[in-house]
Amino acid sequence: MNPTVPILVPYRAVHREAVIGLWNRVFSEMPNHQPFDAAGWLARIEEFSAPGGGGGLAGAGPTCFDPRLFRLAVLEDRVIGFAHGGTWEDTFLARLLPAGAAARLGTLLVIAVDPDHRRAGIGRALLRDLESTLHDTHGVEPPLRPDGRCFNPFYGNFVAPLPPPWGTAEGIAVPAGAEGTRAFFRAVGFREDEEAVTRVRSLADRPRFGGSFPEGVVVEEIEDYQPILGSDDGAAFPIANASRTWVLRERDEQLAALVAYPIREDGTHWGIHSFEVTPLRRGAGLGGSLLEYVLSSLAARGAERLEALAVPREAPEADRLYDRHGFVVAHRWVVVG
Ligand SMILES: CC(C)(COP(=O)(O)OP(=O)(O)OC[C@H]1O[C@@H](n2cnc3c(N)ncnc32)[C@H](O)[C@@H]1OP(=O)(O)O)[C@@H](O)C(=O)NCCC(=O)NCCS
Repeated sequence: MNPTVPILVPYRAVHREAVIGLWNRVFSEMPNHQPFDAAGWLARIEEFSAPGGGGGLAGAGPTCFDPRLFRLAVLEDRVIGFAHGGTWEDTFLARLLPAGAAARLGTLLVIAVDPDHRRAGIGRALLRDLESTLHDTHGVEPPLRPDGRCFNPFYGNFVAPLPPPWGTAEGIAVPAGAEGTRAFFRAVGFREDEEAVTRVRSLADRPRFGGSFPEGVVVEEIEDYQPILGSDDGAAFPIANASRTWVLRERDEQLAALVAYPIREDGTHWGIHSFEVTPLRRGAGLGGSLLEYVLSSLAARGAERLEALAVPREAPEADRLYDRHGFVVAHRWVVVG
């Protein structure tokens, strides 16, 4: 056997430490990266997102950890790359598709190669190996679709208190400056769909809310809640992640909401999960006032920064609003979809 060619094998517990080491090494430069240790990896990846684990809630958390689909490149007992994939079976999309169809749509959730072993065809080999494994296990036909649910630096590789390092199914986010990774995705046939920015607002100036809401409009703060705007309805967040929701309400109607969650367990650093004003009430300053209110609430409880992801082409008005309220661009991304 040629010792310079890695073997491709499924993940087993014996590889755990090596995989964690490689993960931390490859992603250490990502914003909000928090290194994994074995306990965190077990709790957040192997147990939480295994089928039947805590992540498979209401189709919102992916049951994406499947050791057969976590493919490793091993060279002389060292793990030098991994690619993990799955299907859309566990997403909300599954409900919209004909029965069984989602189980045959394959995804690439994460791929990484040791920096010392790049440009040697290992990334491409891992992707092909994942495709053929998904074909054998689920009847999936290529191409796979990039899917950021199991790793999406938009939302950070954050820990508080037990959210997994997932993002959304919209795609895999790659730092705009990571030319090699972008070239790889292009070479294997994926598209760069969107450009996105992380904007950060420092709270060092301790902002205080000096504005007001229109008469009859009140603000409420609720834990782990996702409202349905335009109605009085809402739902508990499927994953309890200590998020706070600020809702603007007029009588029985929820007009606007901002959901934020702590990126750091000590509460110094927060991220905006969603921010929306009901369409009929846009353009009247409600969003700006709500944002100012949230900035002052977070500052009052000791937060030092709040960050948001904006997709300027898709939502230019949101990007401008953040800009006007002191959020500065900290990172640029392309979303490979
Ligand atoms: C993406 C990644 C896995 C690619 O791994 P790799 O083993 O270096 O890729 P390969 O050698 O199989 O490259 C396949 C093709 O992609 C293109 N490519 C890969 N890296 C490139 C680079 N740095 N510059 C230009 N083209 C590149 C080439 O066309 C290459 O084929 P060629 O060498 O025959 O010209 C690796 O760059 C990586 O680990 N990046 C960081 C992790 C990451 O951000 N992953 C995405 C989030 S999940």
